Parts: sequence; structure tokens; C-alpha cells
Amino acid sequence: MQSTTRKINLKGKSLLTLADYTPDEVRYLLDYAAELKALKKDGRPHRWFEGKNVALLFEKGSTRTRCAFAVACSDLGIHTEFLGKSDLHLGKKESVEDTAKVLGRMFDGIEFRGYEQESAKALAEYSGVPVWNGLTDEYHPTQVLADFLTIKESTGTLKGKKLVYAGDGRNNVANSLMIGAAKTGMDLCICAPKELFPEQEKLKKAQEMAQHTEGSITVSEHFEEVLKGASAVYTDVWVSMGEEDQFEKRINLLKPYQITMDVMRKTRNEDVLFMHCLPAFHNLETETAKEVHEKFGLEEMEVTDEVFRSKHSCVFDQAENRLHTIKALIAATLEK
Ligand code: CP
Ligand code: NVA
Repeated sequence: MQSTTRKINLKGKSLLTLADYTPDEVRYLLDYAAELKALKKDGRPHRWFEGKNVALLFEKGSTRTRCAFAVACSDLGIHTEFLGKSDLHLGKKESVEDTAKVLGRMFDGIEFRGYEQESAKALAEYSGVPVWNGLTDEYHPTQVLADFLTIKESTGTLKGKKLVYAGDGRNNVANSLMIGAAKTGMDLCICAPKELFPEQEKLKKAQEMAQHTEGSITVSEHFEEVLKGASAVYTDVWVSMGEEDQFEKRINLLKPYQITMDVMRKTRNEDVLFMHCLPAFHNLETETAKEVHEKFGLEEMEVTDEVFRSKHSCVFDQAENRLHTIKALIAATLEK
């Protein structure tokens, strides 16, 4: 069976960034994810890919992405092989090119989470099978698919909706939100101190893409001024994986961008969503949060516990939607 809205052929296509997908293809993936979510909720089996094999490569830690890929594959009847940093020769004894050629002979698709976007690209180039970017230092495209499904479920449409992102404007999530917003016609404002504004080239490319969908991508230091009318306020950790030596600097830069109830009220939208890709620093219940508290005295970082647990928060819907959107991506790109 597969998607009933199937008109778009994505067979064999990798997802390295959403820039490689047309607005119609992004819409299609979101619609397909909604269908697959309904199938799962109804308990209707969809093991359409029995006999297929997918490799899950993780150079960095993960809860949501790893589980979403594992469960999505299991629901589709696909066998998965998890390969963590210490399981692979990748980059140590064997080049990405050679690893890709080997994996491509054995697997039907490859998920890659790691540092370099170039590694994801090389895997796609040399394996000959679809490669799905499960996060690199530069991009996190599968996250944005889940985020946009979540907004769509709540507001009905994406086009014309205002999304305010506050925090590190150059990280993987911000970069991918810019592309996603451009592809779906949303109005995205990235709020950050100048030092953490998106790279000029990435911003310019996203703005060019947004012209085709009547969306807009803007950048501002003045957080409070752009909040009015927002449908969603989004933040991410101030220090991404691999940047752990940056805590002090980032805290100093980003403290004024913390999401508080006051920030949420300034949107003047009773139904405004609070969004976060997770994991989040919203209390002192983790080892890292405790260390940060000891060193810098902060009890909460990018979001207060109050907002995180408020009626506005859709963070666990976003997390669940990782499963449905990743499943749609796999099914669409492996499609027979
Ligand atoms: N949001 C996200 O990618 O979570 P994980 O790091 O747990 O995969
Ligand atoms: N920007 C974060 C996202 C985690 C899902 C990181 O790279 O650590």
C-alpha cells in the first residue's frame, strides 16, 4: 500500500539537508508521516519492507533519534544494525569512502549521526543507498520534520505562521529550521546575540529559498520586539555536542535569551507553543546541569522549568513525532 497521497517519487534519495528537497517533497513527507501516525495509532501493521536492512551509525550520543530509527524500522519490518563510535573503523582504520562502499553492499539504507557534514555526504556518494542525516554539527533535518509535523497538528498549517527561535543561531537546529521554514513558507526569526547569528551564507541561501514560498527568514538581537504574534517559540541547548568547553562563554552570551513565562506572554498568543528538540537543561536533575550550577550558579539554562512543564510545551509531541516522520522518510526513500 504505502502512502495514499503518493504522487512524489523519493526512491533512492538521501536526506543530508532539507535544502535538497522541494517544498512539495517536504509537504509530502509531512503528510505521509501523519498517515503513518494514524496507522500506528489504529494498530494497523505496516511491515512493508520485510527483508530490508538498515545501518544506524552513531558517532555521538542519542536517545530520540536512535530510538525513532529503531522503532520506525521495526514497524516497517526492517532489520537494523546499530554501529556506535567504538564499533566502527570509520575515520580511524578505514576511510569514510571505503566504509560507505562496504555498507552499501550490505545495507539498503544508512542513518548517520556524527560531527562532519562531509562524512554524511561521502557516505551518500559512495554507498549508493539512501543516507539519512540523524544530526551533524551543521544540520539536523529529521528533527525539523518532526517539529513541523507538531506545529501543523496544532495550528493546521505552516504557511504564514511565525516561529521565533532564540539561542545559538549557528547550530545544527537553527540551520535546519531556516531551511525548513523557507521550504514551508513560515516566517522564522532567529534571535541571538550578534556573535551567534547564523552564518551569512546559510542565511542568504535560506532567504533565497523562502522567496519561492513567500516565507521569510530574519535575524534579530532584540528578542522581545519580535515575539508578538508568534505561533511557536523554539529553543535548543546553548552548548551543542562537541562544544562542551564553551559553557561559560555561551551562558554569558545567551542568558538574556532564556525562555521564561514572561517571554511566552509577550507573544500575546494564549495558544503559543513552546518547542525544544531535547534534551533540555530546565532543572538540576542531570549531571551536566549540576556541574553547570556548581560552576556558574545557574539552575535553569535555555528554558525555565515552569515553561518546560507548562500547557504551552509540546516537547514530547515533538519527540514522538520523530518516530512518525523518520518512518515516513525511510518508507518514502526505500520505496519499492
Ligand atoms: N532531538 C534529538 O536529536 O535527540 P537525541 O539527541 O536524543 O537523538
Ligand atoms: N544542537 C544540539 C541538538 C541536540 C539534539 C546538539 O547538537 O547537541
